[in-house]
Amino acid sequence: MPKEKLKEQIINELNKALEVEYSAIIMYLHHAEFVTGLNAEPIIERLKEIASDEEKHRDMIRERIVVLGGIPSTNLSDLKISQSDDIKEMLEEELKEELIAVKLYQNILELVKQLKDNETLYHAIYHLIQDEQEHVEELKRLLAMK
Ligand SMILES: [Fe+2]
Ligand SMILES: [Fe+2]
Repeated sequence: MPKEKLKEQIINELNKALEVEYSAIIMYLHHAEFVTGLNAEPIIERLKEIASDEEKHRDMIRERIVVLGGIPSTNLSDLKISQSDDIKEMLEEELKEELIAVKLYQNILELVKQLKDNETLYHAIYHLIQDEQEHVEELKRLLAMK
């Protein structure tokens, strides 16, 4: 693939990821307001921590898009955030969203591998995959406790 075409494709995929991050932030903060019950406090805290991880991801991706010469999206992904006070339902929705993010970043990493002088971007995306996989593990752990 010609370099410009590849760059364009990476920018498009990064913009999809940026929209997913924006939606994830809203999802986690929204859900955190509706967690109730005996174990609510640590779960609320954890959801807010994950939201702040997603904020870091959003900022990193936005910056990378600009560095590549693209224009960052200001839209949300098409995620439908459910209104529920059922913690299991919320965690399952979050897990689904995290798995989408992991897949998206894995695809982006494959594209980035084809780019020359890609180290900074490669490490940024690699780090994001690690973070999202940690979120997946954490949500699975919380779900197992329910
Ligand atoms: Fe993220
Ligand atoms: Fe995440």
